Amino acid sequence: MRYRYGKHGIPLLLVSSLTVLTLTVATAYGGSGEAAGSAKRLYESRCVLCHGPRGDGKGKIGIVDRDSGSGRIWMIFPRDFTVGVFKFRTTPTGCLPTDGDLKRIIRDGVLRSGMPSHRDLSEGEVTDLVEYIKGLSPRWQEEEPCGAVIRAKRPDWVGSPESITRGKEIYKEMKCWECHGYEGRGDGPKSDRLKDDWGKPIWPFDFTTARLKRGTSPENVYLTFTTGLDGTGMPSYEDSLNEEERWHLVSYTLKLMGKVK
Ligand code: HEC
Ligand code: HEC
Repeated sequence: MRYRYGKHGIPLLLVSSLTVLTLTVATAYGGSGEAAGSAKRLYESRCVLCHGPRGDGKGKIGIVDRDSGSGRIWMIFPRDFTVGVFKFRTTPTGCLPTDGDLKRIIRDGVLRSGMPSHRDLSEGEVTDLVEYIKGLSPRWQEEEPCGAVIRAKRPDWVGSPESITRGKEIYKEMKCWECHGYEGRGDGPKSDRLKDDWGKPIWPFDFTTARLKRGTSPENVYLTFTTGLDGTGMPSYEDSLNEEERWHLVSYTLKLMGKVK
């Protein structure tokens, strides 16, 4: 499934360029340890390579990575900040993220995507970068923040056999399988045709890899289908499922990920 580009011989090219790209990243990071004077300098030393000088995602490289576990190859598209659409929020779908959301992403990075973690940066530096990114899209000037923040409070029955069974039914009813596949392998009938808001091909999560971009805790899974991943086609189920139903769904996805029996 993930090898769809393979039919055209592209992965070989991608794999051979992997080493070069890794070297490029390493070089760009060299010497950037000293505290950067300004947010712009920091952005230029740490982010510009991927996100581009204008923040439109057109840096020197779109990286290609390889999952050492599965050997899968995928294409990585650095985010275009000029649109102001973000995936990993604690705010409802359609809303801007909170500063805290952006800080977390910058510090932790995004698993399985090429977006690195930046844990060596000080609190002040991360705050500066958040302000810098907010300056790249007019959305922050034009819109009031939504205000609502979604908190994930996990009930203790999450992961129980009854909850998994109920979650499985919901997964079927809500047609998660159309994208994620009947067995959660990311190979549903719609999975081949999806494009993100930036026109790039995108693939539904393969639960059996258990490597969530947002992070692998049950709370992160809950947030994913509560907030939706804006820009990706992965919808928000905040209105169509109540909290209890969403936690049952967490139970089932934990099962698909092999995290509960
Ligand atoms: C090696 C390439 C690379 C570098 C360097 C990089 N990023 Fe990213 N970044 C990405 C990719 C790829 C994504 C898209 C992840 C996805 O959508 O799955 C991303 C996404 C993001 C997002 C969006 C997260 C969301 O919720 O949608 C933010 C914010 C971000 N990067 C900030 C930064 C900042 C700030 C820096 C510099 C400190 C930086 N990135 C450096 C590759 C990079
Ligand atoms: C229209 C297609 C579509 C439907 C329907 C859909 N998803 Fe997704 N989902 C996606 C895509 C695409 C991604 C990958 C986004 C990315 O990698 O940036 C995704 C990612 C995810 C992730 C992983 C997030 C991460 O952090 O990596 C989870 C969990 C998830 N979906 C759960 C669900 C559940 C549960 C349902 C049903 C209630 C559902 N999805 C319905 C398209 C869909």
